[in-house]
Amino acid sequence: MSARSLFSEFLVQTIGSYKPIIDSKIRNTIDDFNSSISFHKELPGYSPAPLYNLKHLAQEVGVGKILVKNEAERFGVPAIKMLGASYAMHKILEKNSDVNIFCTATDGNHGRAVAWAAKHFRKKALVFVPEYTAITRIENIKAEGARVIVADGDYDSAVEKAHEYAGRNNCMLIQDTAWNEYIEIPALVTSGYYTQLKELEEQTNSFEKQIDLIFVQAGVGSWPSAVVHFVRNHPRLEKTDIVCIEPLQSDCFLESAKNKKLSATKKSQHTIMAGLNCGTPSVLAWEIMKSGINAFLAIDDEFAIEAMKKYYYPVEEDKSIEAGESGAAGLAGLLALINDRNLHDLQETLQIKHSTSILLFNTESITDPDFFSKHVI
Ligand SMILES: Cc1ncc(COP(=O)(O)O)c(C=O)c1O
Repeated sequence: MSARSLFSEFLVQTIGSYKPIIDSKIRNTIDDFNSSISFHKELPGYSPAPLYNLKHLAQEVGVGKILVKNEAERFGVPAIKMLGASYAMHKILEKNSDVNIFCTATDGNHGRAVAWAAKHFRKKALVFVPEYTAITRIENIKAEGARVIVADGDYDSAVEKAHEYAGRNNCMLIQDTAWNEYIEIPALVTSGYYTQLKELEEQTNSFEKQIDLIFVQAGVGSWPSAVVHFVRNHPRLEKTDIVCIEPLQSDCFLESAKNKKLSATKKSQHTIMAGLNCGTPSVLAWEIMKSGINAFLAIDDEFAIEAMKKYYYPVEEDKSIEAGESGAAGLAGLLALINDRNLHDLQETLQIKHSTSILLFNTESITDPDFFSKHVI
């Protein structure tokens, strides 16, 4: 890709002590790194998501190593979100098995995961989606047996509608974003994602070789905050830097970091990265990310398309990976860092060099096939 400018924005912060302020009950949940993998291992069809070493891409980019944890498939559903929703539902039902209907809002993947989990536990699911949600994403949620309601407005208003509906009706809200009065369930969702990190621990022989840099893509922040909290508590990963990637047009974490307080994006929220198109961070995720992330980077959609292509048409014998728009966002961030002159300072700060070892997550497979065939194939 040619060098470009003005298509990325970033903010670097110095990592001091990582001590998120979290209520003790919630802390018990998010400090529990081991329970979710025990639960997921018992589910039919469990297998760890593979970890690929893209040696040739690393050479092309000019770094030491690029590892990709590929979440293209979890229990037949093509996204990381499966882990959080299924674990949270399991914990809710453990406490109260009488819950019959689960309700949520989604930009696609979380809703599909809730629908899958409800089917698994023989419960019902009702899923609110923003008005711009791709038809295929809606069909896929319905195919898991859920009822889907298309709400007027964006992701944040779909969350409000789901919350209101759950309050008026006899159903349990299972949302992956937290606000001040609603933290317990999002904390369970977050801890469900640790399965992925425990798998990584095994796949890398307990991170025998230091990982220098991790890219995490953020929507409301529940998944990336699981990565951050795990890494910041891991003795082998003390020196690892973490970069948060967001769409330029939906940059609520960058905005919050600039303002040093939780803030909504001021941008248009027009982005192809549907899973990351969230206007406001989760309060729990912000508490974790604000002291655990080294740099917040918001990138143009073009980088996501470039990354989807790079994954799909690999360099030499590297593995070909099918990644959706949000799934490819970690690699998109790396490509932006390498190719966008505007990011030269950030590249220097992160000390990216020929020996740097990088971890990326492809957090979804193809979730909008029409877009994929139009822009990637
Ligand atoms: C594929 C994918 N990756 C990453 C994310 C970000 O997760 P979170 O919203 O918890 O920040 C999402 C959110 O839906 C997603 O769908």
